[in-house]
Amino acid sequence: MTTHLLTLADLAKEDFEAFFKRAIKLKEKQQIGTAVTTQAGKSLGLLFDKPSTRTRVSFETAMVQLGGSPLFISSKDTQMSRAEPIKDTARVLSRYLDALAIRTFSQEAIEDFAQFSTIPVINALTDAYHPCQVLSDLLTVIEHKGPLKNLKIAWIGDGNNMAQSWINAAAVLGFELHLACPEDYLPDSKIVTEALKKKAARITLGHDPIAAVKDADVVNTDVWASMGQEAEQEARKKIFAPYQVNTALLKKAARDAIVLHCLPAHREEEITEAVLEGSQSVVWDQSENKLHMHKAILDILIGT
Ligand code: CP
Ligand code: NVA
Repeated sequence: MTTHLLTLADLAKEDFEAFFKRAIKLKEKQQIGTAVTTQAGKSLGLLFDKPSTRTRVSFETAMVQLGGSPLFISSKDTQMSRAEPIKDTARVLSRYLDALAIRTFSQEAIEDFAQFSTIPVINALTDAYHPCQVLSDLLTVIEHKGPLKNLKIAWIGDGNNMAQSWINAAAVLGFELHLACPEDYLPDSKIVTEALKKKAARITLGHDPIAAVKDADVVNTDVWASMGQEAEQEARKKIFAPYQVNTALLKKAARDAIVLHCLPAHREEEITEAVLEGSQSVVWDQSENKLHMHKAILDILIGT
């Protein structure tokens, strides 16, 4: 069976651990200047429907550094934009490529793609999830704070694709996850219910950012309007104003708390310049880790 990475809800603890272990190993190799060319002769397609800086460049660079070839495909330039069905595109691309990273709107579309694909399909962001990002973010947390299961992690802001992937991860890895979101912007209740069925889940949902960050080891936020929600941007600014990660809020977290933001950041909206550029922010390490984690994802999914 082809192994895909569509949502972290599909992963067991051992799967997470395998991704972390491989990413740490590949990062160490890169730091000592040892080339690892496990994907020599292989091709990774990147089929994107939405903009991207980090995910695109880190996946492309990951494939190049592993000795393989990336191929960026903007969906609007394909026959998909002229209604060629997913099931046909998936079968055709499977004949050319060794793996396909997809960034699109609906999670169903990526699941349809995977159903007809005989190569691994990797979710490079949908409206529902951003699994590769959260895997890299977890690696960043491990590097800065140690074993995940002892940690309290706060999510402040929108109950969006990032929040939902954090929920998937928390349910399996057992760290405390406290989310504070405005009333009408909570994560999908079905995703939360499924997560809470897992034995390890220690997840709380509320509307109070101060309660969520209290003594937290990690304070995490993301844009208030995700890609595709541009029309709501102004309205959201007012609703989300009490959820800004600023110096006063960060003071309520543990003294040595780290701050995560998957970027791009909107300064003075969901996060202040002082916090983003402050000593507790690890956002640049977080961005770098996308490269190492994406290599691990390629090695594990395609094989070495
Ligand atoms: N964090 C992230 O996925 O960034 P891009 O949208 O630039 O890929
Ligand atoms: N929630 C954001 C993440 C961007 C990387 C979005 O979907 O636009």
